[in-house]
Amino acid sequence: MNARVKIENLYKVFAKDPAPALAMLKAGSSKSQVQEALGVVVGVHDLSLSVPAGAMYMVMGLSGSGKSTLARCINRLNEPSAGRILLDGDDICALNEPALREVRRNRISMVFQHFALLPNRRVIENVEFGLKLRGVGAAERRKRAEEVLAVVGLTRWGYHMPHELSGGMRQRVGLARALATDADVLIMDEAFSALDPLIRTEMQDELLRLQRVLKKTILFITHDFQEALKLGTRIAVMSEGKLVREGTPQSIVLEPGSDYVAAFTRDVDRSRLFDARSVMSPLAIVATRDDGTVVGCGAGGDQAGFLVDGEQRVLGRFSVDAMAQARAGVSGLASEADFICVPAETKIVDVACRYRPGQPMGVLDESGRLIGLLDASKILAGIGAGRVSASTGVLHD
Ligand SMILES: Nc1ncnc2c1ncn2[C@@H]1O[C@H](COP(=O)(O)OP(=O)(O)OP(=O)(O)O)[C@@H](O)[C@H]1O
Ligand SMILES: [Mg+2]
Repeated sequence: MNARVKIENLYKVFAKDPAPALAMLKAGSSKSQVQEALGVVVGVHDLSLSVPAGAMYMVMGLSGSGKSTLARCINRLNEPSAGRILLDGDDICALNEPALREVRRNRISMVFQHFALLPNRRVIENVEFGLKLRGVGAAERRKRAEEVLAVVGLTRWGYHMPHELSGGMRQRVGLARALATDADVLIMDEAFSALDPLIRTEMQDELLRLQRVLKKTILFITHDFQEALKLGTRIAVMSEGKLVREGTPQSIVLEPGSDYVAAFTRDVDRSRLFDARSVMSPLAIVATRDDGTVVGCGAGGDQAGFLVDGEQRVLGRFSVDAMAQARAGVSGLASEADFICVPAETKIVDVACRYRPGQPMGVLDESGRLIGLLDASKILAGIGAGRVSASTGVLHD
């Protein structure tokens, strides 16, 4: 895994002299014990994580868990007390002032919850601001600003003043300003949290769309688990300055690992999170015939199945009865032509809509080959995934 940002054993203690607090933390004390004994606040407590290049990496946790402190340590708006922060292998903590300024201007952009747009400058001048600081010439920065305004859908608003824009549009200006710098790493701290729900959904979709094109490495801070699930390729959960859980959205919902994390996952709509691939039964060959192979799921019993050709493409469906006969060695059974197959990445909610009682559903890979089977029990397992602690072992990360 190619880590663009790597954080190693990071500590942030808000104190003139962090040494006594660090000593206590390293000896096993918690954030609250340190606060009680020394009266200093611990922001980040021995945190390590690795953000792969191109990831949409979500950091989530309750208010005060240390998310913003972590984000601000990455470009040293907060000076780390101990640990290392590597950007493409370079230790940010070791940089001198000019080198740090260079990183902030060219390599890491930040987007905050409330953008400080310059109120008496036009939208386009706000977008250009970072480029101006970098010394980019007037004509070039105007061209670049116009490009990114188009990207965030604000072409017509460049020559308006910020107060003429809605909150959502202003947020887009902030995003445009961050994008204009060409930095590979974007840190977005609660960037959408102040928006009303409809605009927030729009901005999330916009960011997903942009990310498909731009492929930046994004560290996105949120206290909203639904937002983390929707946007994230990975999620890190923080509590009391510590990292308590890290993984893919699906794996965190399946195995929260603690009550703290489980509380976030409780209301998650599993049917929109898990896909056909994650709950399907693998295929097993039931019979080989001249005209193809009869496949069903490995468990045997009362399952229907499919007839496939040599390339695993579905030719027809076998009813439960026909499958039982095929298993018993009866030959010459006819398959039925009406079958339902779904692409492997179809969400369970959409799988459920296509389900017909008594019929198996085939799961197809990107080249149309049959790779698994779904029945009602698998679909229901997907909807309830992770709610019961005893896993049935059918779900894959
Ligand atoms: N400049 C500061 N001086 C002292 N303590 C601070 C400072 N900034 C943050 N803290 C403390 O560090 C801890 C983590 O705060 P932080 O702002 O990182 O939390 P957060 O997870 O971003 O919360 P929120 O969701 O409310 O934004 C808190 O206990 C907070 O009081
Ligand atoms: Mg915060």
